[in-house]
Amino acid sequence: MSALLMDEIRAFQVPAGKVALWWLGQMGFIFKSPAGTTLGVDLYLTDTPSSSQRPLDLNRCFPSPIEPEDLDVDVFACTHNHRDHTDPGTIARLSRKDSMLFAGPAPSCETFRRLGVPSDRIRMLWAGAELEHADLRLRATFALPTDPGDLNHLGYAIRFADGPLIYLTGDTAWHELVAEAAPQQPDVLITCINGGFANLCHWEAAGLAARIRPKVAIPCHYDMFPDNAADPRQFRAALVIRAPGVRYQQLERGRVWVYPDE
Ligand SMILES: [Fe+2]
Repeated sequence: MSALLMDEIRAFQVPAGKVALWWLGQMGFIFKSPAGTTLGVDLYLTDTPSSSQRPLDLNRCFPSPIEPEDLDVDVFACTHNHRDHTDPGTIARLSRKDSMLFAGPAPSCETFRRLGVPSDRIRMLWAGAELEHADLRLRATFALPTDPGDLNHLGYAIRFADGPLIYLTGDTAWHELVAEAAPQQPDVLITCINGGFANLCHWEAAGLAARIRPKVAIPCHYDMFPDNAADPRQFRAALVIRAPGVRYQQLERGRVWVYPDE
């Protein structure tokens, strides 16, 4: 499936004014514009063992839809330096380190550097900072860290040319400031819902949707590890209760979704 899916993404023609996205599990997405620009966010494409000695099952639940060697995106962005978002195993095996741009907070940039990404391919981001590449504008947004081991979390506001605005939360705990500082009325909200490890739970994620009023809300970060899983139907139900009018959209892994989809 690996090379096949990457070939499919490369060949896919995105209609004008729209954006195409592929979910690869957890918070991993590939976005593509009508001009052909591709952005990968938080691509966890291996089964990198956790350094933690805690008795938790954090082995991946399904094979990676793309092998790192096959990955071909213009921009490889990470929201923070946890291995399910900035995966050393994935980055070490990338075969296009010299042609992709790498973006993320400082600790992720350190990981890029350590694993052989040339310094001139790395762009450090912080909340409010923006990266422009071809028709892509990638703005880092505020996220509240979930543990003292990594205090540099980001989310991303993603827009290609005049296409839809997508807000991806990154891993974040709940705080008023997260909702206040988030892009307001984005077209699409992509949010963690797992609740575990201090992330937004389904109820808090629906509360965020109620505050920022996206047109569509997509759950993620609930499917990769047995001991960090959640049922996305709880998020769908919480949206009905807390954010009526916000459309729930569950993505199928590895299957293209184009927005707007009417
Ligand atoms: Fe995570």
